[in-house]
Amino acid sequence: MAEMITLALSKGRIFEETLPLLKAAGIEPLDDPEKSRKLILETNLPDVRLIIVRASDVPTYVEYGGADLGVAGKDVLMEHPEAELYEPVDLNIARCKLMTAGKKDAEEPQGRLKVATKFVESTKRFYAEQGQQVEIIKLYGSMELAPLVGMADRIVDVVDTGNTLRANGLIPMEHIADISSRLVVNKASMKTKHVRIQQFIEQIRIAVKEQA
Ligand code: ADP
Ligand code: PRP
Ligand code: MG
Repeated sequence: MAEMITLALSKGRIFEETLPLLKAAGIEPLDDPEKSRKLILETNLPDVRLIIVRASDVPTYVEYGGADLGVAGKDVLMEHPEAELYEPVDLNIARCKLMTAGKKDAEEPQGRLKVATKFVESTKRFYAEQGQQVEIIKLYGSMELAPLVGMADRIVDVVDTGNTLRANGLIPMEHIADISSRLVVNKASMKTKHVRIQQFIEQIRIAVKEQA
């Protein structure tokens, strides 16, 4: 029996956009995470399984060996600057931008800028580089609301079409980073399962090039 490789994915856009890449590498899940309640999905290959985790938990599962490989947004990886992971392939999927945003007509606040975000690390780093003292308010979602109810002057969030910002009367302000999803690999697995993982990485690289 070949050694098992476990790939961590999150439901939604990452799962959907990773599927064609997996398919090109000859891997097809036997279940649909939107329909099944199972958290471990078998695939057509007996030595490959998928686990379904929260997008923000992918680096943790891969770093601690719960999965050999994973797919995570660069925004999520930037929140784990110390994580011991390899990041061999930019998958060029789930592309968006990490940006600051605020109310169109907002006046500059008197004291320190209040910034609401789930991206605390990137936000700290961005304003530190600008030499600007800010107060960061940690949220877990719906950041767009914070300026509307007077809780924050700015948000830091991912922006794609800009529709969410527009729908809430906010405008994009500063560009922090271009975001796409990355293949990440556990460091020990890269050694112990080298041949199989290297083959998988190469297949995914080819699939990414073909999609470009
Ligand atoms: P979550 O439940 O954490 O919001 P998502 O599936 O929405 O998970 O996001 C997964 C990743 O997809 C994010 O880490 C980010 O890199 C990217 N992403 C998030 N929102 C968008 C978007 N609107 N368009 C494109 N990519 C996005
Ligand atoms: C993401 C993100 C923004 C929105 C940006 O939300 O948190 O709210 O997309 O995309 P846009 O610029 O095209 O509007 P998502 O759709 O992932 O919903 P979520 O709140 O469930 O994460
Ligand atoms: Mg989301």
